[in-house]
Amino acid sequence: MKSYPEFIRERDDLNRTVMDYADTVIKRLYSLDAVAFRDGELDTATKDLIALAVSLALRCDDCVLYHLGRCAELSVPTGRVIEALGIASLIGGSITIPHLRRAIGAWHDILSRIAGNDFERLEAGAISAMTMAEGGVFESLQALCDFLKASVDRYGWVGFYLVDQGRQRDLVLGPYAGEPTEHTRISFGQGVCGMAAAEGKTFVVPDVSVESNYLSCSPLVSSEIVIPVWHGGILVGELDIDSHMKDAFCNRHRTFLERVAIHAAPLVGEASAARSGK
Ligand code: SME
Repeated sequence: MKSYPEFIRERDDLNRTVMDYADTVIKRLYSLDAVAFRDGELDTATKDLIALAVSLALRCDDCVLYHLGRCAELSVPTGRVIEALGIASLIGGSITIPHLRRAIGAWHDILSRIAGNDFERLEAGAISAMTMAEGGVFESLQALCDFLKASVDRYGWVGFYLVDQGRQRDLVLGPYAGEPTEHTRISFGQGVCGMAAAEGKTFVVPDVSVESNYLSCSPLVSSEIVIPVWHGGILVGELDIDSHMKDAFCNRHRTFLERVAIHAAPLVGEASAARSGK
């Protein structure tokens, strides 16, 4: 069975292709699906649990993964998911046991991916870490890095690179939390950080082992996200996070971290100017 993020990526890609070719029948089938799962006499979560059970009894792993993901998004408690899967296996018979095993493994995986990621609480915590820190901008950014690293298990190294405004096309290491890195100065274009700076857009690398333009900080790192930080219309730095987990940065993490980067932007702008002697 595919991992949940792999499945979602493949599903989204294929759905785009389906829509390129779809005739009226296929388009109606797709929109019927959306209508069927709206709140009605049964609420959406109950409908997803029913669909989950039917999918397991019919032994469709993709359908099981999809409805498990929906249950997680709707915060359906584990007990309900397990009871639905139990009934489905009872009706489906012992031939569904391999699917049941994969379904419970996938649920565990989905839960561990979202565990502890209450992004509203984390965003409030990130802002307060910056504002409560004593000292100047470097101390505030340090407090933010410490907070993020301590609050989210999968964030193994959290740091800022600052644009060297003297040399323009260079990044210098700013405050960070985690193991020291040899990459204290990175040119635009070099590594994931350099690419994000050169292109001015977020880079998510789900598997660093297949990224050719990657500067390794530790053999333990499996995935990375780099978010450019803009202030007053100019690029002033980047927020860089490494994880020991493969594919650690789903869209929910990306959105959260892009919001954090916006909150930190004035401080990063000041830090970049100070580091550049401006
Ligand atoms: N991996 C980064 C270098 C910075 S370290 O992760 C701290 C890159 O490829 O640019």
